[in-house]
Amino acid sequence: MTVNRNKKFVGAGLSLVAFVAVVMIVVVVNRTETQATLVPESAMVPVIENVVTPAQINQIDHSKVIGNHEAGGNCIGCHKEEGQAWSKTHHYRSLEKLDEGRPIAEKLGLGRKYKKTGFCIECHSTAKGDAAPYELISGVSCESCHGPAKDWKTVHNDLNIAQPERFKKSDDAGMIRKDRVYLIAKNCFGCHLVPNETLVNTGGHKAASDFELVSWLHGEVLHNYAGDTTKNRGTTQERKRVLYIVGKLVHLEMSLYAAGKITERGHYRSAILNSVRKAWSGLQEIMEKVDVPELKPLAELQTRDDGSLALSGALLKSLPGTVAKIAENFADKHDGSKLGSVDPLIPGPEKYKHTRHP
Ligand code: HEC
Ligand code: HEC
Ligand code: HEC
Ligand code: HEC
Repeated sequence: MTVNRNKKFVGAGLSLVAFVAVVMIVVVVNRTETQATLVPESAMVPVIENVVTPAQINQIDHSKVIGNHEAGGNCIGCHKEEGQAWSKTHHYRSLEKLDEGRPIAEKLGLGRKYKKTGFCIECHSTAKGDAAPYELISGVSCESCHGPAKDWKTVHNDLNIAQPERFKKSDDAGMIRKDRVYLIAKNCFGCHLVPNETLVNTGGHKAASDFELVSWLHGEVLHNYAGDTTKNRGTTQERKRVLYIVGKLVHLEMSLYAAGKITERGHYRSAILNSVRKAWSGLQEIMEKVDVPELKPLAELQTRDDGSLALSGALLKSLPGTVAKIAENFADKHDGSKLGSVDPLIPGPEKYKHTRHP
């Protein structure tokens, strides 16, 4: 994680605290519930404070983006097959959606240059530069998912440095490698939950995608050519188990975080509360099948009589951080070999999103 990123996280944290304070006064998320169903402060589970869940982990440091261009000797120059697979995805074309999105930009009063200056590009593009207007490299590209590469590009492929030291150096410089499943998942959800109330309610932007990590990753998005560039090999069953469970944990974490930003009734509120419900019921299914110590803290979260997760303005201050810790810890401890009991829950190829490049 780069220093810059951390600074942003701290910044996001401070504004979050300030914001939550406001939210608590103005509204409580489940204000339609009767007071009795709200959890009293005293019944709160032990929480880990100060774990910051950024609104969009994908708000990358644009000054560290180098771009994917083959001609400049960047990503696609060395990773040709990955580049080809990527060029067949919706991500590749995600900038085009911004043209169709003009009515949204108008409703938000973003001005005619919204494509270059508006915040739309945080999710629809990989943008480069020290300040707006940015250079829009392309749609959602390599560095939106693997991290801006300025500080890790030369070290990540320096085969003179043995592993695991090379991996460690790359990670420290902000690279999001395959092993870092927690961060991978957080990136996807950071964009796909659309955690922005104004964008959805005022702008009329599509609300949270019905995102599930295994099925959304294993279709058009997957590009695993390492070792054999003739074949986009899939992932192992062990890895799918980890992706599935971490995906659900991060789904819950990010939905709770997005729920903490609800200030009014409307499309955003119903989509995000629905997303919380889905993630939580998915985790309950997992808890019935998988008995590992890292998931035990989930059973201590406060629930209502119907089994749904108890939410209140106060709980939403700390709950995302609590779930983040569980997710990170789980991702650290598991390679999937002991998680076979979750197999019946993992979506099969018929659910994969769009055809994968061969
Ligand atoms: C000069 C060639 C070169 C360039 C340019 C390059 N890479 Fe790599 N990359 C490699 C090599 C070689 C490896 C394999 C290293 C190994 O065997 O561990 C690799 C590995 C990777 C991995 C897999 C690491 C893991 O463990 O998950 C990712 C992801 C990656 N590169 C992304 C990128 C991105 C994104 C860019 C552009 C910002 C980029 N690379 C630019 C050569 C390059
Ligand atoms: C920087 C923001 C961002 C990140 C990070 C991101 N996405 Fe997306 N994704 C988008 C946008 C925007 C679209 C819509 C593009 C379009 O339709 O033109 C999209 C579309 C998709 C689609 C096609 C969906 C459809 O309905 O056809 C899939 C599949 C997908 N993303 C999977 C993923 C996965 C898996 C990850 C994480 C590994 C991920 N995305 C990370 C922004 C992002
Ligand atoms: C927080 C991330 C995020 C931001 C910010 C964002 N979008 Fe999107 N947008 C998405 C994702 C993710 C999708 C794809 C949803 C899906 O297919 O499930 C999308 C889809 C779209 C679509 C296609 C909708 C459809 O029905 O297929 C349009 C148009 C669009 N965005 C325009 C905009 C405009 C204009 C802005 C800025 C005012 C913007 N977006 C800002 C994440 C974002
Ligand atoms: C939507 C997010 C996303 C985008 C965009 C993306 N990647 Fe990846 N990439 C991933 C994920 C997730 C994995 C790990 C897949 C898995 O679980 O095996 C990965 C894996 C890789 C690997 C390791 C492949 C292997 O065989 O082990 C390389 C190399 C790589 N990406 C390079 C790139 C390059 C180059 C680009 C741009 C052309 C790119 N990626 C764009 C998410 C993304």
